[in-house]
Formats: sequence, structure tokens, C-alpha cells
Amino acid sequence: MSNILIKGAKVVNEGRITLLDVLIEGERIVAIETNMPVTSDMEVIDARGKFLLPGCIDDQVHFREPGLTHKATIGTESKACLAGGITSFLEMPNTHPQTTTAQAYNDKLDLAAKTSWVNYGFLFGGTNDNLEEIKAIDLKMTPGLKLFLGSSTGNMLVDDPDTLKKIFSVFQLPIAVHCEDEQTVSANLAEYINRYGDDIPIEHHPDIRSAEACYLSSSKAIALAKETGARLHVFHLSTARETTLFQNDVPLAKKQITSEVCIHHLWFSDEDYAQKGTHIKWNPAVKSAADRARLWEALNDDRIDIIATDHAPHTLEEKDQVYTKAPSGGPMVQHALAVMLECVNQGKITLQKVVEKMCHNPAILFSIKERGYIKTGYYADLVLVDLNQAQTITRDNLLYKCGWSPLEGTTLRGAVTHTFLNGTLMYAHGNIKVANHAKPLSFTR
Ligand code: DOR
Repeated sequence: MSNILIKGAKVVNEGRITLLDVLIEGERIVAIETNMPVTSDMEVIDARGKFLLPGCIDDQVHFREPGLTHKATIGTESKACLAGGITSFLEMPNTHPQTTTAQAYNDKLDLAAKTSWVNYGFLFGGTNDNLEEIKAIDLKMTPGLKLFLGSSTGNMLVDDPDTLKKIFSVFQLPIAVHCEDEQTVSANLAEYINRYGDDIPIEHHPDIRSAEACYLSSSKAIALAKETGARLHVFHLSTARETTLFQNDVPLAKKQITSEVCIHHLWFSDEDYAQKGTHIKWNPAVKSAADRARLWEALNDDRIDIIATDHAPHTLEEKDQVYTKAPSGGPMVQHALAVMLECVNQGKITLQKVVEKMCHNPAILFSIKERGYIKTGYYADLVLVDLNQAQTITRDNLLYKCGWSPLEGTTLRGAVTHTFLNGTLMYAHGNIKVANHAKPLSFTR
């Protein structure tokens, strides 16, 4: 097997940008040096002018398999990950069957072993009645638990207070939560249906899935985590007020309560509903520009730890229905990193911070072994990006099974040019290698 030498890249890692060569042997990074000599057994990738990042780890995706494969499959969406510079994902349990039993969990792992194009891990799903299954989880093999503390696609609401307290008390790994207070959302929805019937103008989505609903649910979950000592991770913050619930006075590795923000909540605001309609209907809802500004602040000052996608494809037919019938969610993995590169170009965030939030921090938070950094001995999951290459997102360049994107028509300054997975160059300038080299994630515990 020949070695790969990535030559002359601006390596972005652990807060620094340094001009370096990176040597890959087999699946691993074996040397990181300046001006490494080229030998005849090396395949050289000329990376001058480009930035080399660790492959992104997306801690929240919905790939719909098993059971919802008319929307997406692990195969189709993980291929889109490769093109987007995401080399590992953690997938959510709201599939059919739900990933709430050991059997369903192992079946999903088997499926991914056969079809995933990038490295994979799965969050186990908690429900009102699977406490015994949760207690039996193999902690060495599992990144954590996902609880819907507000219902969304897939009927997985956990609303029994006793069960919740028991889960928070016994489970030792990160508990990732979707926070929107169910009673508040239901009451708001009933009021709007009363006024408009099913055809509620989409602009009211953030009034229904309101900031109050988010705050009430997040603050309750945090109070319970403090009471029980649970390791809580709050997914997809969408409001200014929730950002006040999180701290930045200790490093991530020492935090007991952490948070995430998603690309769509950083990119869109309620001003976009008029043009994008239900295509930007998400749970939690995209809220005001003022909320978005505070999310950016909290991300940059480290109250928010992780950037993820909540990639959640539905078909266009499903999305184009009236408000009450259009499901929430949209695809994002193919352009999540490119959106952040555009934001780097706009001066909203540094490239080092993007790497911290999309690569290092998911690895720290979920104890993912030997990934998320550019380090000797680590797996060579690497991404080359060009900050000057502009791309316009159109339907014909999408890899998602659902065939649409909420970003269609958007031009981004910044593109992924190469993705290396476990030491193999899997994606280069729009082309994907035929062979599959994905692995299950392992965890350091
Ligand atoms: O908008 C969303 N869609 N939010 C979620 O939490 C679930 C997701 C889905 O699975 O469709």
C-alpha cells in the first residue's frame, strides 16, 4: 500500500493554523512535519493554498433507516457526508423500528457496517417504558442516549416524570435531549388551528414551537440533571434565552451540562419563511434574527459546545403540504461545513473555532476514540477545504435521496475539495471512490 503525503496544507488543529505536511500510512496519520521529503512510495496531494481540517463529526443526524427509506438511507446520506467533509456521524433513534431495544440497536449497527460510507455511531433511544433496556446498554459500545423531551418526527416523547428521573439517575453516559415543552406547543397549536385551520401561515411556526416552550423544557432538563448528576447535552438551541442556561467557565471535558447549535439556526431567521416556506420548518423552529445573533455570541464564547446538522430529510411531496401536515426537518450534511466556511469568510467565526465545534468537541463530549484531531497515531479522517472556491447549491448537485435542500440557490464561498476516511482518499473534486472504508466508532471508557 502506498503512503499518502498531504503537502503544504494550512493545518487547522487545536486552535492553531500551521503550514505542514501530513503523512498517512494505512489508516493512520504517522507524521506531521514541515517540508517532509517525498519518496517514491508516496502518493502526493498538493494542498498548497488549502486548509486541512480533521474530518467533521456530526453528533445529530436522522438517516431514516430502517423503516423510512423512502426519505433517505444510511447509504445515500453518508455519501452526502463524504462530499460535505463529515467523516463520522451519530444517528438518532426515531426510525422504524425505533432504536430502543438491544436488538434494534444491533440491527442498525449491522446495517451501517454494510452500507455506510463514513464512520458511524448510534444514540440509543429512551422511552417512557424501556428503562430496563437502558440499564442493559453496553456502555463501551454506545455514545449515549437520546430523549425527546418534546415530541417531533416519530412519536418518541418521554413525558413521565418518574421515568425521566430514573433514567437521569442511572445512565452514566451523555444524555442528549430535544427540548420543547409539549403542553406549551400543543396549546399554541390548538390556538392557531382554531384561527386558521390546517393552513397556518408558516411564519407562525416560531409562535407555536415558541421560545417559551424551548426555555421551559431546557431549564427543566438542566434542573433535573443538576439534581441527579446526569451528564446532559442539550441539542439544537434555537433561542437567545436558552443560551443563558449554559456556562463557559470550565473546559468542555469538565462540563456536566453542554449544548449544541445547528447550522440552520445559525443561517436562517424568521425573515426567511416568506421565501422558503415549509422547507425551513424545523423542530425547534428557526426563530428571530435577534435569537440567531445571541446563538452566535454563545457559540463564540463557548457556552455552546458543538455545531451539528440535525440532518432530517423528508420528501418534497411531504414538505410541500399545508402547515399541519408538512413534517419538520430538512437535509444539511452535504453543505454544513461549507456554510460554516462562508461564515468564516463573513468574519462571524474563525476557522479554528469551526474545527473546535465540529471536530474536536464532538470527540471529547462523546469520548470518541482516536478521531476529531490531526494527531500522529489517530485515524486519518481529514478534509481539505478551499476558502476561495465558491459554489452555488442547485438540485442537480445534491446527493440526498430526497433530492432537495433548504439551501438551494445559495452561493457559498468555501468548498470541500478532498475527504480522507480512515486513510483512504474517498472524495476528490466531486468524485466518490467506489470502495467503502467506513468503521464503527469506538469510545474511550
Ligand atoms: O425538525 C426536526 N426533524 N426535528 C427533530 O427533532 C426531528 C427531525 C426528524 O426526525 O424529522
